[in-house]
Amino acid sequence: MYEVSKSTDELAIRKQFPSLSQKINGRDLIYLDNAATSQKPQTVIESLGNYYEWNNANIHRGIHSLAERATFGYEATRKSVKKFINASEHEEIIFTKGTTEGINLVSQSYGRKFLGKDDEIIISHLEHHSNIVPWQILCEQTGAKLKVIPISSAGEIIMEEYYKLLSNKCKIVSVSYISNSLGTINNVTEIISKAHEHGALVMIDAAQAAPHVKIDVQGLDVDFLAFSSHKMYGPTGVGVLYGKRHILEIMDPYQGGGEMIDQVSFKKTTYNNIPYKFEAGTPPIAGVIAFNEAIKFITDLGHGTIARHENQLLDYANYKLQQVDGFTPIGTAEKKTAVISFNLDGIHDFDLSILLDSKGIAVRNGHHCTQPIMDYFNIEGTVRASFAVYNTSEEIDILADALVNIRKKIVT
Ligand code: ALA
Repeated sequence: MYEVSKSTDELAIRKQFPSLSQKINGRDLIYLDNAATSQKPQTVIESLGNYYEWNNANIHRGIHSLAERATFGYEATRKSVKKFINASEHEEIIFTKGTTEGINLVSQSYGRKFLGKDDEIIISHLEHHSNIVPWQILCEQTGAKLKVIPISSAGEIIMEEYYKLLSNKCKIVSVSYISNSLGTINNVTEIISKAHEHGALVMIDAAQAAPHVKIDVQGLDVDFLAFSSHKMYGPTGVGVLYGKRHILEIMDPYQGGGEMIDQVSFKKTTYNNIPYKFEAGTPPIAGVIAFNEAIKFITDLGHGTIARHENQLLDYANYKLQQVDGFTPIGTAEKKTAVISFNLDGIHDFDLSILLDSKGIAVRNGHHCTQPIMDYFNIEGTVRASFAVYNTSEEIDILADALVNIRKKIVT
């Protein structure tokens, strides 16, 4: 029998997440859709309420007390993010509405200005649609060519093929740190250094990495990196784009409006300094302020503790689910975060997901916004169980039992 040793105080952690104590369809909720979005701790929920109750004002505009409080809270989060990813300056932190917007911002504000028809962009076959489509749009606009690094049957980027695609024509390499649908952890250190040898800039989609691994943008020497608050226990509608100062400074603004300007006249408008040049309009102030609590939640626990717990869950889930008749894992990379994508022979992923929900178990099914990965494996979709620090081995036991029972009823 496989024993899972407890590396975290599970009860104390779970108590911080009020949504986890509810019943769904008469059963205790088992939330295994964390790669889509995580649940929120009480501190984040309270911070949102606190802003609207006591500190509601616009930022960087008024000088009254509420405006000062709101501005202070908003900028405090920027400083926490700087520390969280080890950026060298807080001006390199741009708030966006999510990872998708960060990638679109780079493709339009950098790519549209600096790329032309003789240039190439490299992505991998493992990407989320949000790290494919913005580059396709850029290619349509500029005539640049998109090159795709192939993957292996384990769901890993084939590095030798990457090296072959690299040339001095390549201006941008954009890859995910961790695959959302398979959980593969890519060798971003190597991807970045090889791109730099050819003079290309690198954008990392860190949406799935930020809640699970310690990100060090200076250590990685990455040029751009984007992630979302809502996948790391924070509110929706808030994301971060990190960019190196000297690159952000030469980029065009992404959107025009208030806050991003220096002087406006009908003859000529000049732009604000970074990061404000890229933050047109009123941002999601409450969300950004509450995001600070999510960062605090992760840093208080420590990435080491989180990773240890989630890796144990992953090992245990692999062990338990392999015993379920008809279980086929999709994506078996050597280095993975706590994501298991799978199919159960004889049951469509959609039906399986509904049946699991009837037992209180939340998973995602379908193509996970990664249709090219599904095409590679010649499947329509998968069921994906993705774990967070509040999940437990008991929940995996219940998932495994549910799968056994569902399969027995449907297939035999
Ligand atoms: N990108 C999110 C997911 O993987 C929505 O589910």
